[in-house]
Amino acid sequence: MQTQEQLNRIQIGPETLSLPQIDKRGTNVSSYIIRGGNRLLGDVKVSGSKNAALGIISAAMLLDGPCWVDNVPDIADLNVMLEICRALGAQIKRESDGTLYINPCTITTCEATYDKVRSIRGSYYLLGALLGRMNRASIYMPGGCNFGTRPIDQHMKGFESLGASVTIEYGKINVEAEHLRGEHIFLDVVSVGATINIMIAAVKAEGTTVIENAAREPHIVDVANFLNTMGANVRGAGTDVIRISGTPVLEANATYSIIPDQIEAGTYMLAAALTRGDVTVHDIIPKHMEPLTAKMEEMGVKTEVGDDTIRVYMEPDQQLRAANFKTMPYPGFPTDLQPQTTVLLCVAEGSSKMLENVWENRFQYIDDLKTMGAEIMVAGHTAIIAGSSQLTGAKVMARDLRAGAAMVLAGLAATGETEITDIGKIERGYENFVKKMRMIGADIARIVE
Ligand code: EPU
Repeated sequence: MQTQEQLNRIQIGPETLSLPQIDKRGTNVSSYIIRGGNRLLGDVKVSGSKNAALGIISAAMLLDGPCWVDNVPDIADLNVMLEICRALGAQIKRESDGTLYINPCTITTCEATYDKVRSIRGSYYLLGALLGRMNRASIYMPGGCNFGTRPIDQHMKGFESLGASVTIEYGKINVEAEHLRGEHIFLDVVSVGATINIMIAAVKAEGTTVIENAAREPHIVDVANFLNTMGANVRGAGTDVIRISGTPVLEANATYSIIPDQIEAGTYMLAAALTRGDVTVHDIIPKHMEPLTAKMEEMGVKTEVGDDTIRVYMEPDQQLRAANFKTMPYPGFPTDLQPQTTVLLCVAEGSSKMLENVWENRFQYIDDLKTMGAEIMVAGHTAIIAGSSQLTGAKVMARDLRAGAAMVLAGLAATGETEITDIGKIERGYENFVKKMRMIGADIARIVE
């Protein structure tokens, strides 16, 4: 039961919400309350890709003219990114139709030492963009989710190959070049961030740059397509060899629309299966969802793929089969869906394994799942999930963005009430999460302080 004080803090919601509704919009959000047990039913639209948008907004800082970017998600990480770009001097405004007008020609500094640089990961793309634009850049060390060490040696190696010197001092990364020239770069590890950062910097380098062992994620292709639309010459994005022919001036003056968010889409697909629901996820690129769709089908989930939709459905009494997963760079199974998928494995029949191959430490949420009744054992990079658990509501925490989304999913499948604290981490990456979840029938409310 809620105390009267808690009830007074619950935000307004649709009629389906069983809790009293009091509008407190604009105040600080601190937790979600979920009453589990509802089957999710209906339609949900996916927003623009967070990780593509972070790369594209940074890449826009390289241009020699204005551009218009559509489908930019309204999420905390992106809004921080826009603030940082404005602090560099770029003009950015939202048009009435939601499109972002971006003019980087008014940039006055190559120093991104605005405090918020430290609060997001994607701010490090400004190194590549400002290096390309001004031959110098200085930014605070980027932040982001804590999965253990997050080295940036491959970014540095790439910039050095292009002719830049790199130093790290007083918490700042400084890169400087007299002249950027194309080079052959072989990445020691497949890194999304290093691939995008080097690609952005190389766009204005003299001659041709070849990035080998490049990451192939959909958002890398999206950043490359954006740059090409603005006048660059990037070939091979989406394969492991990317060739960039340097272009001294990028005229821009064009419009670009960001791809849908693969991870947001996957989160709703998993939520539908978990609640034995029937949800159609709209505005997606089904090809990007194949690593998930194939595994969900293996578990017994039914899917119907349209041109830009996927319907995910299960009978109310249908059992899910156990399965083994390994996270890998694209087109492998995405690490950013690992925590949400582990929740699904908790309720499947039989024992499953989840092997985390990308990050050193991305199982920090497992203890929260155990608090909710899950039986999981972690051995090194593998979580062994006993399955057939009836989750029960508890007070848990959003340890990071995707771990937080996983807690929401667990709450939807649990009996009773789940409270999730520190939900600012979830709202860094999911646009209108509560609203969208409620539209498909979830009983979830935001508690504000
Ligand atoms: N790595 C290095 N050296 C480097 C860079 C990476 O050793 O210079 C290692 C990392 O330690 C990790 C692996 O390479 O083990 C992959 O890291 P990657 O560089 O691909 O990750 P990232 O660019 O820092 C992006 C996303 C993450 C997502 C990963 C993997 C952004 C802003 N972040 O991070 O997204 O998990 O790729 O797909 O694009 C999220 O959205 O929740 C999120 C964490």
